[in-house]
Amino acid sequence: MKFRTLFLLLLGPLTLTQTWARSHSLRYFHTAVFRAGHEEAFYTSVGYVDDTLFLSLDSDALNPRVEPRAQWMEYETPAFWEAQTKISEGHKQKLHWNLRSTLHYFNQSEDSSHTFQWISGCDLEPNGSLLQGHEEFAYDGADYISLNEDLRSWSSWDKAAQITQRKWEDSGDAEHYRAYLQEECLEWLCRFLEKGKDKLLHTESPKTHVTRHLSPEGDALGFYPKEITMTWQRDGEDQIQNMELVETRPAGDGTFQKWAAVVVPAGEEQRYTCHVHHEGLPEPLTLRWGKEGLRAQSLLAGKAGALLKILSRIRAES
Ligand SMILES: *[C@@H]1O[C@H](CO)[C@@H](O)[C@H](O)[C@H]1NC(C)=O
Ligand SMILES: *[C@@H]1O[C@H](CO)[C@@H](O)[C@H](O)[C@H]1NC(C)=O
Repeated sequence: MKFRTLFLLLLGPLTLTQTWARSHSLRYFHTAVFRAGHEEAFYTSVGYVDDTLFLSLDSDALNPRVEPRAQWMEYETPAFWEAQTKISEGHKQKLHWNLRSTLHYFNQSEDSSHTFQWISGCDLEPNGSLLQGHEEFAYDGADYISLNEDLRSWSSWDKAAQITQRKWEDSGDAEHYRAYLQEECLEWLCRFLEKGKDKLLHTESPKTHVTRHLSPEGDALGFYPKEITMTWQRDGEDQIQNMELVETRPAGDGTFQKWAAVVVPAGEEQRYTCHVHHEGLPEPLTLRWGKEGLRAQSLLAGKAGALLKILSRIRAES
């Protein structure tokens, strides 16, 4: 199925000679929901640079348009948003067709509701080359078909998807995706990084904190970018098995939160250390319950950015 890749018309010449301190990514998440009794599929689309939402299609609006979701995108021209909206209309059609054909491949009737999702985007190496391209499709929440790392072949995940795969192989779709991922996608990513550099290229160091609790508490503030590792050690040995680690989650202000908890036998607190690696830290942090933990906390308290609370759950062993 042919479709016009995002931004095709708007891109001027741009050289990719710039280098970056870390790798970056551009991702679009498209979702179409086919509802029984509705001619039109419900469609929504959001775009991310790294961990930052920067545009979306307001699908609830009477006249849905692609709109800025980051302050640095607000300087784009009306023509830019006009073109984005047009392109997203094409994406909506594409997903709708795919949804309908998939429905038929599965022998499902049209009076049931189904979803089709599409994730598209590229990862940029710090030296400016393509690290990886992504074109992944899911039907009713399960993997359906995806472009392989070679950007030339497909992997399909069930019998219906094999039909789609044969069709896409016959029409040479991979070639279009590959051209988009290798060039336009990277060029647009660089352009967005340049536009949003004050936000996108900065780091927020995590503010760390060791506390003693009887039960886990969810209060933690954020850091940027999202990538972080936290591990508890006992006498220098990783405590992965005994550790409770929540998934990194958005704070809602563009920063992220996480906590790690470990159950410590009473009186053994000093044998435990928590280790935090994050790009915003000049060097990895080692935290301990008590004075050192508190000192690390006050050292970091002056920095902008949010609090990452490492929860040490202390429970007396019976
Ligand atoms: C749908 O029905 C056809 C014909 O009955 C059958 O060959 C095919 O395997 C069915 N597809 C699925 C996904 O069950
Ligand atoms: C960029 O870095 C990657 C990984 O380090 C390497 O494989 C690739 O050849 C480099 N590309 C260029 C143009 O230097």
